[in-house]
Amino acid sequence: MKDLIGIKELSRAQIEEILNTAKAFKEVLQRDIKKVPTLRGKTAINLFFEPSTRTRTSFELAEKRLSLDVLNFSVPTSAVVKGETLYDTLKTIEAYNVDYIVIRHSSSGAAKFIADHTEASVINAGDGINEHPTQALLDAFSILEIKGRIDGLKIAIVGDILHSRVARSNYYLLSKFDTEIRFVGPPTFLPSHPPENVKVYYRLRDGIKDADVIIMLRIQLERQKSGFIPSLKEYYHFWGLKKEDLSFVRDDAILMHPGPMNRGVEVSTEVVNDPRAIILKQVTNGIATRMAVIYLLRRS
Ligand code: CP
Repeated sequence: MKDLIGIKELSRAQIEEILNTAKAFKEVLQRDIKKVPTLRGKTAINLFFEPSTRTRTSFELAEKRLSLDVLNFSVPTSAVVKGETLYDTLKTIEAYNVDYIVIRHSSSGAAKFIADHTEASVINAGDGINEHPTQALLDAFSILEIKGRIDGLKIAIVGDILHSRVARSNYYLLSKFDTEIRFVGPPTFLPSHPPENVKVYYRLRDGIKDADVIIMLRIQLERQKSGFIPSLKEYYHFWGLKKEDLSFVRDDAILMHPGPMNRGVEVSTEVVNDPRAIILKQVTNGIATRMAVIYLLRRS
């Protein structure tokens, strides 16, 4: 594989290879000297056409830990604001002979478009409502690290599944394992024809009961017109995971959120602070997982 565009295209064996490699890199990141010379002399560029905190910073750290030379492309101060197209931006960057392009874009298919028009390895850091493959990989890594397995788990994905590229990539990944996948949310936030291997729940407590893993999602207001929910206050009342819901969560369950969180919308501060929440562990694991992806693309 030259590129990582989506989880859909990966086999279970490829996912397991990435997760095993991430485990080795996590050990490197716990040493005093966290950097390896593996990709010295290679260059990566991070092209973020949409805002990001976690994905952009952890890709940059992953690249630096692998000894890559790193360029961060700032869209608001670039010629994109003068009307330069995605294609011409790509050709300009390509002229620097870069080896890796990490791209986030609001259009589904933008990462594939870039990959089809460059010799560099392209990694999708989120394209529209399509996929966010490295988020699903770091989520799987985090589940594996804590639960010791993915097979046999009941995993509830709660919230705005319809507009979430994180939910889509997680669904593709979990479907390659022997998991029970639950979609939990109001009907307007769930696909009208859910996949056959998914159990659908319209009531929060029914959906989270007995789950081993609960993944809460942000409402993707930037990707939807109004009218999906009456109000954020009502959403929080019925669908937000709150202190009073925690007694319905298994003692050994893990609570996850890809971030950014909207406290008081999909999750309460008590939930974020609950010992079962691993939200910042997910952030930490983003570095090792992204190092693994970059490293393995180079080798294949
Ligand atoms: N989870 C995630 O993609 O977060 P950012 O938007 O901060 O990168």
